[in-house]
Amino acid sequence: VRYISNRSSGKMGYAIAEAARRRGASVTLVSGPVSIAAATGVDVVPVESAAEMKAAMETALATADIVVMCAAVADYRVMEPAERKIKKTAEDLSLKLVRNPDILEGLGRAKSSRQILVGFAAETHDVVAYAAEKLRRKNADLFVANDVSRGDIGFGAEENEVQLLFADGATRKIEKASKIRIASAILDAARDLHQARSATA
Ligand code: CTP
Repeated sequence: VRYISNRSSGKMGYAIAEAARRRGASVTLVSGPVSIAAATGVDVVPVESAAEMKAAMETALATADIVVMCAAVADYRVMEPAERKIKKTAEDLSLKLVRNPDILEGLGRAKSSRQILVGFAAETHDVVAYAAEKLRRKNADLFVANDVSRGDIGFGAEENEVQLLFADGATRKIEKASKIRIASAILDAARDLHQARSATA
């Protein structure tokens, strides 16, 4: 009847899955409930909670060269979900929330040195500084930072404009473009990192 979630249309993640599939990759798309369809040939694993997403991502990590964590995972969940609809009685209502596990951070600990891990940082201010801190903390190889305070890009929009941050401190701005073009630029960068890593391994 009621649930707590995070704002996301899923369009960016679905665009990344589609762009990867078009390149011939074998793609597993672990997705929360969204109202868009996955591209043909993409293997969809539907999940409904952060715990389910974590388990599905850990399974997918085992066979992945590149993992892109684009989901807007809820940071907290309700501690005691009600079995029945909560009726409106009192004037105010408090819900106790507990922290969800950080899926990307777990993947960052578990990945091998040949696997490329890509994270997203949706920020409203100090976009690059926060994204750089998350890249380090989550042991990612690449972070995609976007400014969600702008109405013309990001949440629910058809277009996006992002900055790529690399583990060596380099940054690259991707000009405003359709989410499928942005997806392609992200995959180019992830592929280059993967090729460089495989060459030195
Ligand atoms: N992420 C995750 N598991 C969570 C929360 C976030 O895997 N429980 C991932 C997101 O998919 C994204 C990255 O971590 O790739 C950053 O998510 P974001 O919400 O921007 O950052 P948080 O770490 O949750 O920090 P904060 O909410 O304080 O900005």
